[in-house]
Amino acid sequence: MVIYTVTVNTGKRLSAGTTSRISIQLLGTEAESEEQNLNQIKAFWQGSERTFKIQCKASLGELISVKLYSKPIKGLPDNQWFCDKISVNTPEGDKILFPCYRWLDCDEKLVLRPAKASLVFEDTSLIAQRQRAMQREERQKLFRWRVYAEGTPQVIDCDTALTLPAEVRFSFTKSEEFFSTAGKQLAVLQLTGLADNKKSWKSIRQLETLYCGIRNETIEYVQEHWDEDQFFGYQYLNGLNPMMIQRCSKLPENFPVTNDMVKDSLSGSSLEQELKKGNIFLSDYKMLDGLVENVINGRQQYLTAPLVLLYCNPQGKMMPIAIQLKQEPSKENPIFLPSDSKDDWRLVKIFVRSAEFGVHEVDFHLLRTHLLAEVFTVATLRHLPSPHPLFKLLIPHTRYTLQINILARNQLISADGVLSKYAGVGGESLVYLLRRATASLTYSALCFPDNISERGLENVPNYYYRDDGMQLWEIINKFVAAFLSNYYKQDDHVQKDTELQRWISEIFTNGFLARDDSGIPSSFQTLEELIKFVTMVIFTGSAQHAALNNGQYDFGGWMPNYPTALKKPPPKEKGQTTEATILETLPDKSTTVNGMSVLRLLTNDSADYYPLGDFPENLFDEDAPLKLIEDFQKNLSKLSDRIEKRNKKLELPYTYLNPKNVGNSVSI
Ligand code: FE2
Repeated sequence: MVIYTVTVNTGKRLSAGTTSRISIQLLGTEAESEEQNLNQIKAFWQGSERTFKIQCKASLGELISVKLYSKPIKGLPDNQWFCDKISVNTPEGDKILFPCYRWLDCDEKLVLRPAKASLVFEDTSLIAQRQRAMQREERQKLFRWRVYAEGTPQVIDCDTALTLPAEVRFSFTKSEEFFSTAGKQLAVLQLTGLADNKKSWKSIRQLETLYCGIRNETIEYVQEHWDEDQFFGYQYLNGLNPMMIQRCSKLPENFPVTNDMVKDSLSGSSLEQELKKGNIFLSDYKMLDGLVENVINGRQQYLTAPLVLLYCNPQGKMMPIAIQLKQEPSKENPIFLPSDSKDDWRLVKIFVRSAEFGVHEVDFHLLRTHLLAEVFTVATLRHLPSPHPLFKLLIPHTRYTLQINILARNQLISADGVLSKYAGVGGESLVYLLRRATASLTYSALCFPDNISERGLENVPNYYYRDDGMQLWEIINKFVAAFLSNYYKQDDHVQKDTELQRWISEIFTNGFLARDDSGIPSSFQTLEELIKFVTMVIFTGSAQHAALNNGQYDFGGWMPNYPTALKKPPPKEKGQTTEATILETLPDKSTTVNGMSVLRLLTNDSADYYPLGDFPENLFDEDAPLKLIEDFQKNLSKLSDRIEKRNKKLELPYTYLNPKNVGNSVSI
């Protein structure tokens, strides 16, 4: 007789314990144990650790898996069990960890594999191969693709969050917080009596009393400076969307700015000279051109597709010097200048900020972070079984992504969703814009250093998004490179990892719609290619999402800085705008408060939050990955210190890429 000692850890989360009957069976290369009941007398309580002895006639050989069964007990309620992990001490003196970290339903079976990571061609025993294949098959039945809209990335085939498998759903804490914040927001709206008020604001000052529960340094700053050119330019670098600006060496033909128009803004220099020196920048919103404009509260709304010319002045400030609101130059589409009347220039900038809302929310935030993170999550769940090292690496970066995206599809961008009801790009144009944005998506735009150099922004001063993002990319890249090199010793290993090849192939096909011109790989030939891609996957779901998501209420809570829609057409000639025109153009009261409420909800902090670098589940038991995770966390912490030190010297601190504030996954 030999004895296996089994330690069972029940999770600490709410309701993790169970009174259901839990049985266990150990499977080895030589034999399998009898199925043994573990909690005949005593239930598994939340947070408990219990140890059991399992007797076998002889050694089971190398342990391949642990099977858990949950069965209801007559007279007791059926309840789920959240098991954290099982550890087994073998008669040979080994201690083997089997991570679980998921719910087990009544009458459900679960097969756990050892924590030691393995690639498909290394996991050679017949039982292991069979279990690996079975896990992939089961996952592929459970997590299926669905076409959301032709020409856009495919999504999880699931109608509501309630029908998602428990392992990927919000925790109780996250769920409670999310819905209670949403409920509170609604209550606040009702209290203000403005939720259905279709009247225009009487003055900008009226807005000062409107706040959805939070005020902070940035919100105060935005309210004070929103109308200043310097802050307008600043936001292209360090605001909510630092992705729209690029260096301009030649003016586009449809933006005929002349030297005479802008010379007064160029510190004594000329447009030609500054173009040559690399101090002229452009933001072109052509993606919005020709979209069908939404109707809000029964009233037609107006969208523009502006061209904005900016000048990086000798003081290092990015200043707007010319704005044309529509793409086709004409007499009725004049080029506005800072020297125009204060009201003209202010109104034109408001049109740009409203265009910014559409481009930022639909292209950069929704598509390039949320929907792509969902593509990576679905492919990971379908193709990488739990012993795969990439599964262990990526799983913290998939947390809550499926559920938050289902909520967004059902409550924000659906036909009766808040964005469809209250945004200029809502309704029909939202899907159209998403399709356009998907068609122009490239791999290089998603890889941080490539994106910065493609936009010619390597040397722009005071670009904190770039400075912090570049360091974060490098830290993630260094960690990913060391981690993957530990498992893939040569390029050949990458090529013959069939699970990995199916993973990237499905990302290419279902996520990027098999567009060769996107530059997204459809297979991996080298370890180097794999490292770059995985760095991008982690960066997109963590850092990039944090930079584009977490400032939504900071910058958008002051409505004139980020109007969701505008209800008068853009000016056709100069000198006609008054303060009354501006108030009549800005969103009505209902649109304003509903927009603010959504932005507040989407910026909500959660107690159930893990910052980048946290691996809350103990999925590894080898020294090498554990040491790499430790180094990764140290490097992130050092970056955090550097950013905090830098921020002390800034008038407006840039905090969004401080690793402490970067969540591990797209979860809000
Ligand atoms: Fe988000």
